[in-house]
Amino acid sequence: MDLFEYQARDIFEKHGVPVLGGVVATTPEEARAGAEKLGGGTVVVKAQVKIGGRGKAGGVKLAHSPEEAAQKASEILGMDIKGHTVHRVMIAAGAQIAEEYYFSVLLDRANRNYLAMCSVEGGVEIEELAVERPEALAKVAVDPAVGIDAAKAAEIVEAAGFEADVKDKVAEAIQKLWTVFSEEDATLVEVNPLVKTEQGDIIALDGKVTLDANADFRHPEHAELEDSAATDPLEAKAKEHDLNYVKLDGEVGIIGNGAGLVMSTLDVVAYAGEDHGGVKPANFLDIGGGANAQVMAAGLDVILNDDQVKSVFVNVFGGITACDEVAKGIVGALEILGDEASKPLVVRLDGNSVEKGRAILAEANHPLVTLAETMDGGADKAAELANA
Ligand SMILES: Nc1ncnc2c1ncn2[C@@H]1O[C@H](COP(=O)(O)OP(=O)(O)OP(=O)(O)O)[C@@H](O)[C@H]1O
Ligand SMILES: [Mg+2]
Repeated sequence: MDLFEYQARDIFEKHGVPVLGGVVATTPEEARAGAEKLGGGTVVVKAQVKIGGRGKAGGVKLAHSPEEAAQKASEILGMDIKGHTVHRVMIAAGAQIAEEYYFSVLLDRANRNYLAMCSVEGGVEIEELAVERPEALAKVAVDPAVGIDAAKAAEIVEAAGFEADVKDKVAEAIQKLWTVFSEEDATLVEVNPLVKTEQGDIIALDGKVTLDANADFRHPEHAELEDSAATDPLEAKAKEHDLNYVKLDGEVGIIGNGAGLVMSTLDVVAYAGEDHGGVKPANFLDIGGGANAQVMAAGLDVILNDDQVKSVFVNVFGGITACDEVAKGIVGALEILGDEASKPLVVRLDGNSVEKGRAILAEANHPLVTLAETMDGGADKAAELANA
């Protein structure tokens, strides 16, 4: 999960990274109040969108009074930055910048390691710098078992070529940023710019943090950082039921058990769709091993509520999940959903207790349900129904 800058700022503060005051505002009036809260002096009004290059796009503006902060906020709120609409701004205390540096630490998947990057030439041109003069961007590998201790921080600062007067302070800030990275289970912590002020202080003026969703169970407090307004409502509903669901763009709803089988089902449906008007899979949904009737009902509920879905293909290979449980789930779900279930279902069952499962569906004889003998046959039928 990517965080907004104001959320990154709060997390930095929690771990002792030097930051300036910042207040979130969703209206010009709140922006004015925020600027007053920060002392009524010079502030910077910053668009809160999860994309870089906000400054260049006109989303970062200086304001010298609370009135001006309200004015700038009214200009920035509602702006479109590279396809992201600005719903909030952060009113940040203004810094008197002497130098702009760059620092980031990230998960380096290719090298199975962490990587720190640092430059004394930070700021809004960092992307160009990385391409045109890569030697000006120091890259230092970070051993996951050790992290960024004092020695590693000194190595990074040395490699980036900091002046003697700021070395220690920068090294200290970098160690704090490592604490953020490791304790919050992040995959990216980036500060651009990390600045030296006219007063000689080192401060993180911008922050980009990506949290590792695989570690969510260790951080119940991260749940409230989620931007619920931006989450797909179907994905949110699926998450409530602990379903592994990903919304896709097509018309054939998919339910399967086991990620591998679901992935192949997506392929087979996409392939079959070529003969039926180009229909495509509408989602990925893995109800998992050992799934019971309730899980099946929850999955169907999510998929049938997707307006784009025209038909559903249930493809289950009974292993731990016995086919009769799946069949009961389908029948039960259709009962619960009643008239809401108005889309045809193609069901292919195989494996553990397949005879019992098919018998249950045959007996229920629901007008919306078609039984398929094979995976290919089921995919073809579901694609045909979606195109009808
Ligand atoms: N609190 C502040 N006080 C003074 N100047 C600031 C402040 N915040 C940002 N700036 C100036 O505005 C520039 C752009 O701000 P910032 O880096 O936060 O946004 P950005 O352009 O979106 O950056 P990125 O592309 O890294 O996301 C900074 O390089 C800095 O010069
Ligand atoms: Mg920046």
